[in-house]
Amino acid sequence: MPLETEARAELRAVVADLEPNDGKLMAALHRMQHRYGYISREALEVIAEQLDMFPAHVYGAASFYDEYRLEAPAQTTIRWCSGPACRLENANGIRDAVLATIGLDALGERTDDGRVEVVNGQCNGTCEQAPMVWIEEPMEHKRRAVGKLTAASAIRMARAIRDGGSFQKGHETVF
Ligand code: FES
Repeated sequence: MPLETEARAELRAVVADLEPNDGKLMAALHRMQHRYGYISREALEVIAEQLDMFPAHVYGAASFYDEYRLEAPAQTTIRWCSGPACRLENANGIRDAVLATIGLDALGERTDDGRVEVVNGQCNGTCEQAPMVWIEEPMEHKRRAVGKLTAASAIRMARAIRDGGSFQKGHETVF
């Protein structure tokens, strides 16, 4: 068994009450993701030990689902909605404007300083807000929807995120 560091003991505490052979793999993955914003290699090992499973099995489950991250997230994630209602409202144009403003070529990339990433997102049923993105700060457990974007407001939003400023949408300061 690997050395029990303070960090590993903290990971172990997150899943300490989960019993092996009790179908708790998803619960364990969810807890780690919620607590740290991603599931590290060490967290996968701790889950495998706690649930008495092969690490490869735990990794396989974690990597199968898009919502689980296996590497530390950027400080800010722009999650672009790729759903049909958003696409009907120029979501592709919004995506291209955001990527160009942030200075990225494609979804899934992050800035060189690791501060901002733009990723693919799925419709969560708030289509009246189309076209929309979610601005996430995983380490702060913050997630805000920004909807009814135009190319111009998407560029202003992306500039504010890129430059660490604030973004005004209508009368509301979104961040
Ligand atoms: S399609 Fe984008 S929120 Fe539903």
